[in-house]
Amino acid sequence: MTRIVHVNGAFVPEAEAVVSVFDRGFLMADGVYEVTSVLGGKLIDFAGHCVRLARSLSELEMTNPHTDAEWLALHHELVARNGIVDGMIYLQVTRGNPGDRDFAYPGPEVKPTVVMFTQSKPGLAENPAAKTGWKVISIPDIRWGRRDIKTVQLLYPSMAKMAAKKAGVDDSWFVEEGVVTEGTSNNAYIVKGNRIITRQLSSDILHGITRSAVLRFAAEAQMEVEERPFTIAEAQGADEAFITSASAFVMPVVEIDGASVGTGKPGSIVARLREIYLEEMRKAAV
Ligand code: PDD
Repeated sequence: MTRIVHVNGAFVPEAEAVVSVFDRGFLMADGVYEVTSVLGGKLIDFAGHCVRLARSLSELEMTNPHTDAEWLALHHELVARNGIVDGMIYLQVTRGNPGDRDFAYPGPEVKPTVVMFTQSKPGLAENPAAKTGWKVISIPDIRWGRRDIKTVQLLYPSMAKMAAKKAGVDDSWFVEEGVVTEGTSNNAYIVKGNRIITRQLSSDILHGITRSAVLRFAAEAQMEVEERPFTIAEAQGADEAFITSASAFVMPVVEIDGASVGTGKPGSIVARLREIYLEEMRKAAV
């Protein structure tokens, strides 16, 4: 089945989708994106992704090309046209095509470029990695200072993912000034007893939509939540560790820089959080 993608109002087979070579997303990484998961044909935490998209656009003085209702309709149409049961919807908005290369932003006559596509991942929520956990390495965080804006400047996160692959592990955790910021494309946590510890929100990290839901569910389940930075050494000595993202949900981390976390196997708190998250989010999916 040919994948149908969305480009600037049109639904077309992927081979026919066209974006200009002058598009600022292509030339300058001048664009933002969102990734929303689909389970059972429904969107997980869609409202949260819409709020963050609007914020990313506004921080970059870009116009939001659609209302939330229009975004929802576009997502639903893409899910339907591609018969997606489990998977992800990727959406990207760039500052558009000014017709030439120029560092200055173009005026309002240049409309944003909108691209959306699906990624089918049957059984996304039953990922076997959730039973074994991820291994991670640490790597210096040399990204820019506005990581709270979800931009498409993903070269360094890609380099960090490659460093992990070369080391034979699953992901990298970024470290800045001696403490962990986040993973290459996820938020990072440790567990000590009944307490979940994760870095507080600031421009140092992306404000994860999954993070927000998981911290809410953790508090509701009588777990303590502490928002503060932690070091790699503290994480290595924790009882459990995990990451969250829209595509991995809640994923245990069992090894950091070669040292086992806790028993070296996924622990019960993270398993419970994953279960609660998936159950609650499936119920609220749209
Ligand atoms: N990444 N931190 C970074 C740097 C991220 O790129 C992401 C998401 C997250 C988690 O955010 P959320 O829970 O809203 O997905 C944290 C997406 C999944 C991606 O780039 O594919």
